[in-house]
Amino acid sequence: MEFLDLPQFLSAAGTVCLPGSKSISNRVLLLAALADGETEVRDLLASDDTARMLEALQALGVGVTALGGESWKIAGCGGRFPVKQAELFLGNAGTAFRPLTAALALALAGGDYILKGVARMHERPIGDLVEGLRQLGADVTYLGNDGYPPLHLKPATIRPGGSVQVRGDVSSQFLTGLLMALPLTGETVTVDVVGELISKPYIEITLATMARFGVVVERQGWQRFTVKAGSRYVSPGVIYVEGDASSASYFLALGAIGGGPQRVEGVGRDSIQGDVKFAEALAKMGAQIDMGPNWMEARAPESGLVAVDLDCNHIPDAAMTLATAALFAKGTTTLRNIASWRVKETDRIVAMATELRKLGAVVEEGDDFIRVTPAALKPAAIDTYDDHRIAMCFSLAAFGTPLRINDPKCVAKTFPDYFDRFAAVTKAAPVIAIDGPSASGKGTVAARVAGVLGFDYLDSGSLYRLTALAARRTGVDWADEAGVAALAAALDVRFADGEIFLRGQAAGDAIRTEEMSAGASIVAALPAVREALLFRQRAFNRCPGLVGDGRDMGSVVFPRARLKVFLTASAEVRAERRYKQLIEKGLSANLDALLLDLKQRDERDSQRSVAPLRQEADARLLDTTHLTIEQAVNQVLEWSREAL
Ligand code: DC
Repeated sequence: MEFLDLPQFLSAAGTVCLPGSKSISNRVLLLAALADGETEVRDLLASDDTARMLEALQALGVGVTALGGESWKIAGCGGRFPVKQAELFLGNAGTAFRPLTAALALALAGGDYILKGVARMHERPIGDLVEGLRQLGADVTYLGNDGYPPLHLKPATIRPGGSVQVRGDVSSQFLTGLLMALPLTGETVTVDVVGELISKPYIEITLATMARFGVVVERQGWQRFTVKAGSRYVSPGVIYVEGDASSASYFLALGAIGGGPQRVEGVGRDSIQGDVKFAEALAKMGAQIDMGPNWMEARAPESGLVAVDLDCNHIPDAAMTLATAALFAKGTTTLRNIASWRVKETDRIVAMATELRKLGAVVEEGDDFIRVTPAALKPAAIDTYDDHRIAMCFSLAAFGTPLRINDPKCVAKTFPDYFDRFAAVTKAAPVIAIDGPSASGKGTVAARVAGVLGFDYLDSGSLYRLTALAARRTGVDWADEAGVAALAAALDVRFADGEIFLRGQAAGDAIRTEEMSAGASIVAALPAVREALLFRQRAFNRCPGLVGDGRDMGSVVFPRARLKVFLTASAEVRAERRYKQLIEKGLSANLDALLLDLKQRDERDSQRSVAPLRQEADARLLDTTHLTIEQAVNQVLEWSREAL
């Protein structure tokens, strides 16, 4: 299973330009083409569906000019497509096929058009839309199976006094396609929806987009829609395609938790998507929200976020973001009226409750609510249930603790580069990685540097030593990879006040023997053992910062360390240092034997196949053969002042 380990984050601030919404992109392109005047479309989503629509418009003689970035200029044809005969290939783009069918079938001074797609497109029903169009006088023939593409369209003979019945319970795209084409008839047309209309928010988007282009649809509930004779699309000049408003919620919450100001561009005050109301919910938690027409910005309140008790029926997707934001709010947050969570990608109430509890939060779940009380968060591996939104909203929890997100690529459903964007605006707790061979003095240097900076200190070698000790105590052979890895994964260890506790017992001295040095070096060469200890080490990457020492701190465990040091000394000097240490502790020691042993361990640590000891290209070399500890510490501190 793939995973992504997140460190604890210190702060968040910046600007994220959200990818445009697919539904809005294709609606805007078509209406711009049907309008009088030129329209500059900004922030269009770059995707297959929009590419098919742009190609089709070009084939129909509409002026389409790429302006660079995600901006396009569309020269509207006022409902009269210049090309009167064309065969259009629309791939599998439903958001292009349905509305284009309606627009071409009812186009002014229409033409002779064939609309095709991929095989799968020819299995997707379109009969209800064609029925509606025929009621208005359109001339549409099926070229394959009845009720399915490909289609042959010829100029319509519009019937006066139009009234249409269309089914609303199969796809809202039929109603959308029909409504957008109605102004072309020049008549007053009334559409009656048969059956319960599904996906109402999408019809709201259709109506709002039409209104931006100057056509207001009269609506009686969700049953009857009327477009008045004389309605014409007029270019608004410049139009921004909104970003996905639910995706905006993660970044706004980041600003509210991580300081901010965090700005999202692509949705704002004038948004036509319901989920923008998320900003109001965040403001109720105390966040400072600013808005412009197509941007929003969030900052953390000075006194911290506060819990809310909220009906979330109007923002079901974005409400998940509130559940993780609640981890940082004072008090207990209750999110109500969220029964729809149970029938989404997964049962989101169960999933959110389970994962929030893993982090230490106190969670109560009901049929249609979730109640979250924050606690000191602890590291955990978060399962994502093939649900993009779970992966994205749990990234926020990294402000409270390092954590692991399993299967992070599930975000591709709506936001493929989410974690890159997230990384670009967040600042992680810094790491100083100090690697080097045994007895080079890196442990002493690392601990002192940590002390001066007020950072945590991770002696990663101790984890391998503890694993070797645990194996010895439980009779597991050091060569038994699976057995030792299982012990490493379950290691009950606690670091406190400079001492190390294994199963509650002080183990500092027991792991420092020469026997455990050898054992650590042996178990450290086992890939499964290293894998089992990886997240445990990364979980030390907390605020305000960490100094870690070992063999692979900079190469494997903390590849993004702000400063990487390769700290070494000649084997002879290292053997002497170890000798002195042992003698000072009152232990017997033999210098020659120590030297031989060190060389053997150097060999094993640097020759092994996984995470071998070596100086990384981006690590700074510190040879302490002729340096005192003070000199070495000062050098690392000087480097860290530059790096942090
Ligand atoms: O640093 P140390 O002597 O306490 O390390 C004990 C052993 O653990 C050493 O032989 C190499 C191994 N080790 C490792 O492989 N990777 C680390 N990050 C730290 C230690």
